[in-house]
Amino acid sequence: METENSRKLYERAIKVTPAGVSYAIRYFEPYPIYIKRASGCRVYDVDGNEYIDYWVGHGALIMGHNPPVMIKALKGIIEVGTHFGLPHEYEVEYAEQVVKMVPSAEMVRFTNSGTEANMYAIRLARAYTKRVKIGKMEGGWHGGYDALHVAVNYPFEKPESAGLTEGATKDTIPLPFNDLETISKIMRENELACIIVEPILGAGGCIPPEDGFLQGLRELCNDYDTLLIFDEVITGFRLSPGGAQQYYGVKPDITVLGKAVGGGGLSIGAICGRRDIMELIDHTKYKDKSERVFHGGTYTANPLVSYVGTIMLREYEKGYIYPHINKLGEKLRNELEEVFEKYNIDAHTTGDGSMVGIHFTKKKPRNAREANEGKNEELAKEYHRFLLENKIIMVKPTLPHTFISYAHTEKEIQQIIEVTEEFAKKHRGK
Ligand SMILES: Cc1ncc(COP(=O)(O)O)c(C=O)c1O
Repeated sequence: METENSRKLYERAIKVTPAGVSYAIRYFEPYPIYIKRASGCRVYDVDGNEYIDYWVGHGALIMGHNPPVMIKALKGIIEVGTHFGLPHEYEVEYAEQVVKMVPSAEMVRFTNSGTEANMYAIRLARAYTKRVKIGKMEGGWHGGYDALHVAVNYPFEKPESAGLTEGATKDTIPLPFNDLETISKIMRENELACIIVEPILGAGGCIPPEDGFLQGLRELCNDYDTLLIFDEVITGFRLSPGGAQQYYGVKPDITVLGKAVGGGGLSIGAICGRRDIMELIDHTKYKDKSERVFHGGTYTANPLVSYVGTIMLREYEKGYIYPHINKLGEKLRNELEEVFEKYNIDAHTTGDGSMVGIHFTKKKPRNAREANEGKNEELAKEYHRFLLENKIIMVKPTLPHTFISYAHTEKEIQQIIEVTEEFAKKHRGK
C-alpha cells in the first residue's frame, strides 16, 4: 500500500506536534495515515487510498460521514451565526430535545466535550451528596479529567499519566465491571458520592453488562445513597434514541452525553439528570458560591452545535437507524466468532447493538481485567495491521473494537469478515 504522502506529512507534523498527532490513539506504527476526505462509511487518505471506516469519528458518527441531513443543517445555521456568546432559541430547543429523548433527563447543561461533561458530573455528585470518594470501573474511559484518569489501561494499578497528583486521584476507587459482589463489598467499606459507569465498556473493549448488572448497580446506589452516573458518551443515541438507559431499562441519576449528541464533527458534551441535582448549578437559586456548582464556558451551547445537534437528535428519534446498525453489529459479532472457531484461533467477540469488541483471549471477557490478562497482544496488533493493509480502519491495535454507522451495509460487513478469514487462515491454531 502506497502511503508516501502520509509519511511526508508525518515528518512535517512531528516537528510541530508531539508524535505528529492530536491524540495518541490516532497514531499507527510506523506513522499515522493522514486523511484527506470522508464520505459515508469511507475515508480517503492523502495518497488516494480508500478505506472502509470502522472508526467513524471515535464512534461519534452514527449516521456515517457527512449525511445530507447534517450538511443541510450546517448550511442552515452557518450564516445566522456560529457563536453569539449570549443565550438563544436554538439552545432552548436543543435542551428540550435532550430532555424529551433521554429518560433520566429532567434538565441539561451543555459542555464542549465528554471529558468536560464528566468533570462537571463528578463535581455535581460530590456537591449533592457532600461525599468525596467516587467509584469508577476498571477499564472505564471518561476522558482526561484527573479524577477519572485512573484504572483506564491495564495494569490498572499504575498511574495513567505523568502529572497526576495523589490528591487528584486518591479518592477514586476502581471497581470491577460485571461483579456486583465485589462492588457491594467496596461500597460497604467506602462512602461513595457516585458510581460512574459506561453501560457498555467502550474503549475498554465493547464489553456489555451481564443481565442484572446495571439493575444491581442501581439498587446498590439506592441502598447506599450513592448517585449513579451513566457515561453515555458512546451509548447515548447509539443503542437507541434514549441511549443505553432506554435500551436496558435502568435510570441513572446523572447522564453524561457527548459525541453523537452534537451530530458529528462539532465539539460537544452534556450533563443531564434529576432536577434536584441539576439545579445545584442554578446561581439564581443558590446564591452562596460554596453551595452551588460552577459550570460554564465560552463555546457552551453555541448556535452552531445547538442547531445541528437538535436536527440530528430529531433524526435519531425517528428510530430507523437502530434496526439497521444493530443487525449489522449482530452479524459481525456472530460471523467473526465463527471464523475464529473454524480456524481454532483464541479470539472472541463482545458487544451489543452496533458496538463490537474483538478479543484475542482464550475466554470471552466479562470485564476489562479479563480482556487484558492473558490476551495475545501481538496477535491483536497483527490483526489491526492486517486490516489496515486491506484498507479497513478499526479502533486501536492493542484492543481492536469498532462502531458501525448507518452508512455501513452488509457488503462492508462481508468484506471485514472475509479479510478476517484470510488472517485466521494464516494464524490457524494461535
Ligand atoms: C465513554 C466516553 N466518555 C468520555 C469520553 C471523552 O469524550 P471527549 O473525547 O469528547 O472528551 C469518551 C471519548 O472517547 C468516551 O468514549
